[in-house]
Amino acid sequence: MILNKTLADASAPAKIILFGEHFVVYGNHAILASINKRINVNLRVNKTRIITIRSNLGITASYADSRFNLIKGGEDTKEILDPIYKCVSNVLSLRKQSFGIEINLHSQVPYGIGLGSSAACCVATVAAVDSLFHKPNRGWICANAVESERLIHKDSSGGDCYISTFGGLIYYIRNGRSKKIKSKKNLTFIIINTGVVHSTKELVSSVKRFKYNERSLFKKLSSCAEDICQNALSAISRGDDKKLGKLMNENHMLLQQLGVSNKEIDSMINICIKNGASGAKITGAGGGGSIIALVPNDYKTKIISEIKRNGYESISAKIDYDGLLVH
Ligand code: MEV
Repeated sequence: MILNKTLADASAPAKIILFGEHFVVYGNHAILASINKRINVNLRVNKTRIITIRSNLGITASYADSRFNLIKGGEDTKEILDPIYKCVSNVLSLRKQSFGIEINLHSQVPYGIGLGSSAACCVATVAAVDSLFHKPNRGWICANAVESERLIHKDSSGGDCYISTFGGLIYYIRNGRSKKIKSKKNLTFIIINTGVVHSTKELVSSVKRFKYNERSLFKKLSSCAEDICQNALSAISRGDDKKLGKLMNENHMLLQQLGVSNKEIDSMINICIKNGASGAKITGAGGGGSIIALVPNDYKTKIISEIKRNGYESISAKIDYDGLLVH
């Protein structure tokens, strides 16, 4: 295939999961939204055969014939950058090319806080590299990004890459027909970072063990999660924030039973509820990471200041309707 250009630039949004994380891995529905925090990827082709990846998170590595070479960063650098390298090498091999590329990643969200930064990096990287050859196709990009993301955790539902590629608010199902959702009202969420970096891979594995050891309980929880998700879908389309908040609290209780919450997360959730949030829950894998609270406008300032007073960082986010952008 012929090179179209030697410079490329793409960006993809981070995400929140409103309902259904973990259960979505086993075929349940989930409701996801992309948020107005982006991961930008720009790249430059060069004449070496080396792929260099640099991130504003302060890590850099190069890959020569698949061999990892740490340039800057800690022990987790390889784990973070390997999937990005896989995205690049997959596209190059599918396009039967083998030149060098220098890649710069710029993320507006920290790594490992449950906001899908690694999926967004994969989506934007696949898109940027493929745009060197032709106008990228979103479905193809998403499928290839999921494949590389499965290097991080092999059971990935693919939901994070899907929402980051297509954007908006989505009722998602693995290997099925996902659909865009229209919300009757503007939904305002506050995202709160626990400050504890989590490993999605470990949490997904711990839920897998739970499912194996507690078969009938898992089945029961999974069926409740599916009901909650369907009720949430209709509450969103009716604009019923009160009901939506209640369903978020119920979803969080299921996640507690799966063992992915902890005292700190639960206490942050209580702070939000006590100060006027309609509902709050873990978003993403849990075990640290982030929580989301659905917040009526009148209570937003109060909740943000209470969160701050308790020593946590909050991020106000709006739903992003663009998804992947190839610039
Ligand atoms: C992680 O953002 C969401 C999980 O449901 C895993 C997945 O869907 O692959 C925990």
